[in-house]
Amino acid sequence: MLVVISRTYEEMSRAAGQLVRDRLLQKPNLVLGLATGSTPIGLYQELIRMHREEGLDFSWVTTFNLDEYLGLGPDHPQGYSFFMRENFFKHVNIDPGNIHIPNGLVEPAQIDEYCARYEDEIKNAGGIDLQILGIGRDGHIGFNEPGSSLGSRTRVKTLTAETIQDNARFFERGEEVPCYSITMGVGTVMEAEEIVLLASGQSKAEAICAAIEGGVTAQVTASVIQLHRRVTVFLDDEAASLLKRKDYYNFAAAAERKFEDLRGGRRQ
Ligand code: PGA
Repeated sequence: MLVVISRTYEEMSRAAGQLVRDRLLQKPNLVLGLATGSTPIGLYQELIRMHREEGLDFSWVTTFNLDEYLGLGPDHPQGYSFFMRENFFKHVNIDPGNIHIPNGLVEPAQIDEYCARYEDEIKNAGGIDLQILGIGRDGHIGFNEPGSSLGSRTRVKTLTAETIQDNARFFERGEEVPCYSITMGVGTVMEAEEIVLLASGQSKAEAICAAIEGGVTAQVTASVIQLHRRVTVFLDDEAASLLKRKDYYNFAAAAERKFEDLRGGRRQ
């Protein structure tokens, strides 16, 4: 696992953008797993800038989003289809036919079949090459709340009170935050070839410390990335503030950059 600590959110987003660009240049038909929430917005802005200024091409890219609120349709302003369209898709040349986001309006009786189909679609696309993740204050990835099986697949998950409260900021006053989601499972995420996890701000410092330096546990589902063979964690100074081995991560990231320059290769 490589931990890259930047001074600011903007620097962190640029560093993550460079990694995504490198992978896209290596594989134009990249299968990208995407996340929502406030954290990846800077990364999406950076990719949009690269598309506009450098011609970064998304026309062969396929995307799978991690999750969606159950009950919210594709045009609901707080739904994740709307979020992705506004913050990323409509600004780049991605083929709308290659975009996959769980449908929050699926009929309850069809949910299991629908979730199994989402998994099949990922497999049929050749699997996810690069999965982008945020992290919740409770350590969740996607909407895999504490206690989610580390082998779980796409399914319905009930949100914790903490997540509902955190996400209330995106909803109108008086509007109810949904308490169910459809989310890729922890097991689904772990099958990606490569994982990038982003976190910014003091409010994420505890979750990051638990995920990176604590034990692997279903109580902090992000901690499962310790078992993945190819992970880069991008943090700003605040999110990294409680890490005990911060100096080593900085030293290792700088050394890794030098080493990468020498061999022009992949990091593990
Ligand atoms: P945030 O959410 O980026 O809005 O902080 C992250 C998450 O809950 O996964």
